Amino acid sequence: MEMNVSEFDKVARELFAPIYPIIAAQIIQKTKITEGACVDLGCGGGYLGLSLARITNLTVHLFDLLPEMQEIAEKNIEEYNLAGRVTAVLGDVHALPFGDQSIDLAISRGSLFFWKDQVKAFREIYRVLAPGGRTFIGGGFGTPELKAQITARMKQKERNWEDTLKERIGKTSKERFCTVLAQAGVADFSIDCSDAGIWIVMRREAA
Ligand SMILES: C[S@@+](CC[C@H](N)C(=O)[O-])C[C@H]1O[C@@H](n2cnc3c(N)ncnc32)[C@H](O)[C@@H]1O
Repeated sequence: MEMNVSEFDKVARELFAPIYPIIAAQIIQKTKITEGACVDLGCGGGYLGLSLARITNLTVHLFDLLPEMQEIAEKNIEEYNLAGRVTAVLGDVHALPFGDQSIDLAISRGSLFFWKDQVKAFREIYRVLAPGGRTFIGGGFGTPELKAQITARMKQKERNWEDTLKERIGKTSKERFCTVLAQAGVADFSIDCSDAGIWIVMRREAA
């Protein structure tokens, strides 16, 4: 995937900043998981995983494909004062470096649209999900108001922003993700689709 890493991080810090704590609170509300091991897949600068670590006792792996993102995430771990509980891990979501059933909570925002083989990636994520574990994976902006504010600004930077967003997190994507999850062999899941975003919650029943 082509990405200007420093430009993306500037936008994340300056424009997207308010969405991360809001989504972190929504993750807790939805999954009720506040301790154990968490991974933020395709974390970028790590702002979602860090926001979640701040308000829970979770041990968080900030996971990304790009070394440049890992470097930014490492700086942010220091900035958030979370070095004891949060680490930056380099890798590919299609081949996760975690043991079977070892992750209690797998979160991810805005990354799955770039995964080359979503079926393989979801199969892999389900493999590492612990008994009682949950995912919160998708894309969104926290609230419809924030989405509208960010869209107004992003349209000036990227002409196709609104169309891209519709394609990624619009109503039709729910059906597409249902097919992907079925192909990945995941039976227990729900997909929340609202004006603020789309989120896939997969579950592995407690032992
Ligand atoms: C649009 S950014 C979102 C970053 C962050 N989650 C956020 O919301 O600020 C997408 C991220 O996914 C990462 N990514 C893309 N494909 C990946 C893969 N196969 N495995 C791990 N990370 C991946 C990219 O390097 C990038 O940092």
